[in-house]
Amino acid sequence: MNPYRVLPIFTPEKVEEYRNRNFYELSPHIYALADEAYRSLRDQDKDQCILITGESGAGKTEASKLVMSYVAAVCGKGQEVNKVKEQLLQSNPVLEAFGNAKTVRNDNSSRFGKYMDIEFDFKGDPLGGVISNYLLEKSRVVKQPRGERNFHIFYQLLSGASDDTLKKLKLDRDFSKYNYLSLDSAVVNGLDDAANFRTVKNAMQIVGFMEDEVQSVLELVAAVLKLGDIEFKPESRCNGTDESRIKDKNDLKEMCELLGIEQSVLERAFSYRTVEARLEKVSTTLNVAQAYYARDALAKNLYSRLFSWLVTRINESIKAQTKARHKVMGVLDIYGFEIFEDNSFEQFIINYCNEKLQQIFIELTLREEQEEYVREGIEWTNIEYFNNAIICDLIENHQNGILAMLDEECLRPGTVTDETFLDKLNTICAEHQHFESRLSKNSKFLTDHSLPHNCFRIQHYAGKVLYRVEGFVDKNNDLLYRDLSQAMYKANHSLIKQLFPEGNPAKVNLKRPPTAGFQFRASVGTLMKNLQTKNPNYIRCIKPNDKKASHIFTDSLVCHQVRYLGLMENVRVRRAGYAFRQAYEPCLERYKMLCKRTWPHWRGPAREGVEVLMADLPVPAEEFSFGRSKIFIRNPRTLFFLEERRRQCLQDLATLIQKIYRGWKCRSHFLLLKKSQIVVAAWYRRYAQEKKYQKIKSATTVVQSYTRGWQARKLLRELKYQKRCEEAVTTISAFWHGTQVRREYRKFFRANAGKKIYDFTIQRIMQKYFLGLKSTMPSMSPIDKSWPARPYRFLDGVHRELPRIFHLWRCKKYRSQFTEEKKAVYEEKLEASEIFKDKKALYPSSVSQPFKGDYLEISKNPKYQKLNSAVDEKVLLADVVNKINRANGKGTARIFLLTKKSVVLADQKTGQVKASVPLPDLASVSVSTQSDGFFALRLKEGSASAVKGDFLLSSEHLIEIITKLHRTGATAADSEQLNVDISDEFLVQFKHDKVCVKFIQGAPKNGNSVSCKRKNNRLLEVSVPTTA
Ligand SMILES: Nc1ncnc2c1ncn2[C@@H]1O[C@H](COP(=O)(O)OP(=O)(O)OP(=O)(O)O)[C@@H](O)[C@H]1O
Ligand SMILES: [Mg+2]
Repeated sequence: MNPYRVLPIFTPEKVEEYRNRNFYELSPHIYALADEAYRSLRDQDKDQCILITGESGAGKTEASKLVMSYVAAVCGKGQEVNKVKEQLLQSNPVLEAFGNAKTVRNDNSSRFGKYMDIEFDFKGDPLGGVISNYLLEKSRVVKQPRGERNFHIFYQLLSGASDDTLKKLKLDRDFSKYNYLSLDSAVVNGLDDAANFRTVKNAMQIVGFMEDEVQSVLELVAAVLKLGDIEFKPESRCNGTDESRIKDKNDLKEMCELLGIEQSVLERAFSYRTVEARLEKVSTTLNVAQAYYARDALAKNLYSRLFSWLVTRINESIKAQTKARHKVMGVLDIYGFEIFEDNSFEQFIINYCNEKLQQIFIELTLREEQEEYVREGIEWTNIEYFNNAIICDLIENHQNGILAMLDEECLRPGTVTDETFLDKLNTICAEHQHFESRLSKNSKFLTDHSLPHNCFRIQHYAGKVLYRVEGFVDKNNDLLYRDLSQAMYKANHSLIKQLFPEGNPAKVNLKRPPTAGFQFRASVGTLMKNLQTKNPNYIRCIKPNDKKASHIFTDSLVCHQVRYLGLMENVRVRRAGYAFRQAYEPCLERYKMLCKRTWPHWRGPAREGVEVLMADLPVPAEEFSFGRSKIFIRNPRTLFFLEERRRQCLQDLATLIQKIYRGWKCRSHFLLLKKSQIVVAAWYRRYAQEKKYQKIKSATTVVQSYTRGWQARKLLRELKYQKRCEEAVTTISAFWHGTQVRREYRKFFRANAGKKIYDFTIQRIMQKYFLGLKSTMPSMSPIDKSWPARPYRFLDGVHRELPRIFHLWRCKKYRSQFTEEKKAVYEEKLEASEIFKDKKALYPSSVSQPFKGDYLEISKNPKYQKLNSAVDEKVLLADVVNKINRANGKGTARIFLLTKKSVVLADQKTGQVKASVPLPDLASVSVSTQSDGFFALRLKEGSASAVKGDFLLSSEHLIEIITKLHRTGATAADSEQLNVDISDEFLVQFKHDKVCVKFIQGAPKNGNSVSCKRKNNRLLEVSVPTTA
């Protein structure tokens, strides 16, 4: 019973109270039924369905939500499961916003049928769900009866959306701007549209709608509102046809912008209708009425397709992710039976659906149950009830049912109107007891003024409903001009394109789409079949009053509902019948553990087993009956008793299984531990032994090494001692022998032994020294001054004398190698040294120059042939000298020849002899101490040569010339030794006067050479380079 106010009976505490309790244990509650259904599904593996029926506003939708929330509260928990639950629950606000509306009977009336399959896994956790929707009352989109509203979403969007969103959707918050929104009941008491809009958006997000999907949906809703504002005006054409024009194109423009449609395309679709026959296309213009019809058809289609898309989209989100086998709980919440002032096609469909549900209820609870008792041979008094199959047949019969006739009328060629359809009904259904019409052949209604001419009345199970036929044909046809669907398909809007697939020019289908009635009948048929496969649970909602008010209980109304719902008959059948029945096999299978004889196996027919079982239990015999194939249990109490016993037995069995399992587990665990312990112990022992062995081994090694060391040391000590002993013996014996020998030999050299030994030693040393000298003798060069050192000081004398003797001998040896010539050369050199050494600065430079003698090669040179012949003696020396002129000190080149007898001066060029001085005439030779080559040949006074005066000459070979002159003079027998004066000042007797030649040191002007200058009559000055 709808309380029309919130009662504190749907709290979490109540959920806990009803959880896992037997059905009849506590007072009736939706939770009791939901729990029963859920437990049957989970424990008995039976698919369930919950059928919620009742008039519009009786509380079906609320009941369905309570069922879902209960199931959500009691089933398993976990992140994934909670997400599924949340999505399933949140699908409700979305569908209610788009599919519910305020009607005169209910402020939140479902305008579509909904069947939801919730899928569970074997544990009873929800996996997902599938929602089926049935025929949305789309006519509401364009027109609402007085006191009613359009679908909630329109009002929610305008009240709840932000200014920004509305601007984007090109909408105004003002309801009055939109033709499709009824104004008289735009605001409903107790309904906060703005808050609901937020709830819907949030729910869409939870269900899994993308941001852009939500936006698209809102755009479509806005487009429907805009569509309602497009108005047409008539325009007559000259050919007489009526055309329509859009009054104000602004709304059209905005709508086209919203949906991304080209304005001209839609405009054309509102002006023309193209009919395609097999081969030809005919375009006709639309008049104003047709244009409005097209507009409304588009709006209705747009909205209903959007609704179907929403259901599909929600299904996509909530569908079970696993393909594993699952159990299903179906919850059916459809639009309730309704009777309005003005009932049309929609009410007809809605009531037909309710009729079918009542039928299934009757089928399963009343007819089927009673037939079963008879079939099973149970004693049974038949209970009468009203079977509404006849009404269902009136509507759905394939040949002459109302829906079939409507279809036939729609498809028939020729003029078809709602009136022709009514005529048809009047003819065909006239005889039907539940059909009433003014013009039917059944004359009893001819005068019934409550039945207008354009109406027919059906006596439904819940009362009589008067239907106006106007619009039946159109609504059944549900015609949308192809031009419009094609225009929609062209839209640049992903959602619109999906909603109008038939607009795709590539997929033109010339077949008529199935009619709305046909589709609905088919889907209701499928639904009924589906429900029959499941275990049904019923929630019958009852309205206490027609005022949607609490605390008012209208007896007549309630009685009426109780009656037409067949609840009385139901109770009667229940009372007389049995609460529970079950085939013998499953019954025995389920309860065999309650009796020792049937547990664990009963070998024999199942029925006998059940009989034995029941006899064994303390249950009175009248509590159950044995049918042909089933056992029937009268009271739920007995069933609960059985279940309770079974539960206890199961607990005991579970304990037994647990006990055995635990025993097995502990045993195997123990065995494992034992095995592991052995392994561990073995490994440990091995390890310990290894450690011990290592320890012993190292200890042994240490002991061994100590012992070996000790032994070795002992041996060494012994050996050392032995050696020392041997050495001592040797020493002692040596000393002893020495003493012995000395003692023996002492008698042989007593006095001279020391001297002899000394001499011998000295001798030996000398010998060694001389022998050593042999190998260390210095070279034979006379200038080598080296001599090996002496080893002993007493050799000092020898050491001094030997080098001297050796040097003399070496010189002699050296000299003995000389030839006669070389000997003469050395003699000359010796003589030169005797004359000049340490006396004249020029001398050292001459030592290394060999005395060549004949520099001019006078005998060989033909130039001097004449001169050679003039000199009869052998030339000892021939050289070019400068004869110094006494007048100016300059030199004139002259050839100087020395023979054994004379000195000859000759002209260098001609070779003519200028002077020849016999050697005996030479008195002396004067030279300076300097490094110059000047020399004066001084003649003996009075000699023949002296007439011309002395000669002042200079030569590069001065030393050689003077030496040779000295030697020659010495060797000549008849002359005395030639004097050589060495002084830096000497007198030279020229022809008449004496001139002093003076040598001075100082840098001469002309370089390094010697220069001679006449200073005055008596002095010739020779500048000689300064000797360093
Ligand atoms: N259990 C309840 N407790 C309180 N109020 C309830 C309950 N059930 C229903 N109502 C009230 O009744 C109103 C109508 O209920 P609900 O929408 O469930 O009816 P319905 O049977 O689904 O109708 P329709 O066939 O038109 O969809 C709810 O809006 C709510 O105000
Ligand atoms: Mg409802």
